[in-house]
Amino acid sequence: MKLTAQFLLSSVISTVLVSAVFLPISAVAQEAKAANHSETKAESKPAPAKPAKPDLAKGEALFSATCAACHGADGNSGTPANPKLAQQHPQYLMAQLDGFKSGKRNNAVMKGFASALSADDMRNISYWLTSKKAKTGFAKEKDLVALGEHIYRGGISDRQVPACAGCHSPNGAGMPSVYPRLSGQHADYTVAQLTGFRDGTRKNNVVMAQVAAKLNDREIKAVADYMAGLR
Ligand code: HEC
Ligand code: HEC
Repeated sequence: MKLTAQFLLSSVISTVLVSAVFLPISAVAQEAKAANHSETKAESKPAPAKPAKPDLAKGEALFSATCAACHGADGNSGTPANPKLAQQHPQYLMAQLDGFKSGKRNNAVMKGFASALSADDMRNISYWLTSKKAKTGFAKEKDLVALGEHIYRGGISDRQVPACAGCHSPNGAGMPSVYPRLSGQHADYTVAQLTGFRDGTRKNNVVMAQVAAKLNDREIKAVADYMAGLR
């Protein structure tokens, strides 16, 4: 009886040991195999069907005619209330235009302009804007910049405000298709957006509503000013 139990125990142990040693190896081998496989596939076959290439010339023409008056000739708006759009990620721009059109993001001015655009127009304009270089800006509030940097880089731990850098990246460049670029943006525009997320007038993103809910006016002003100078 004792012997059987011991035997069982030792066989369990060895199985655990064996799988502990071999499982990771076989997982690595499988990954390598998969990677190899997709490499050969990519060589032999063209990439899966993508939508037609955006037409940057059309995008530029449409933008110059209808949007540049407010957002600047190259998407670098000179008016603090109108956001800079140059170098912003195309997926984010398209999602915002879609949101204005559908009413998911509420803005009377932009609803009018976005509603006049087709999905192709939005794509052409967005990819053209991405190809334009963003003009850098400056922080202006000497007394607040340290607070702004602290919030941007480290968040506010005792109120569970996450670091902005964690999603929007340390230099504010964001991450294509997920997190918008923020660096160099007009502080007035950023203050308006963060206040809108907090007060529920910009309802199109739950994560940002939760982040902004915990910021007071002074903190919003500080982090917006810091971001304006970020590069
Ligand atoms: C009369 C001025 C005006 C015109 C013309 C205009 N916009 Fe805007 N746009 C604004 C303002 C103001 C905002 C900020 C809206 C808000 O507070 O939500 C904005 C916001 C945006 C945003 C969101 C940016 C972000 O960072 O979230 C995009 C994208 C945009 N506009 C694209 C366009 C395009 C494309 C056109 C032309 C088809 C256009 N705009 C025409 C004033 C304008
Ligand atoms: C968990 C990820 C995450 C964190 C952390 C985060 N953000 Fe965001 N942020 C987002 C996403 C996603 C969006 C895009 C929202 C949308 O689609 O409208 C966004 C949008 C924004 C916008 C709007 C940009 C524009 O052009 O209109 C501002 C401003 C912003 N964030 C500031 C901040 C600040 C300041 C912090 C730190 C206090 C912060 N974010 C932390 C994910 C995050």
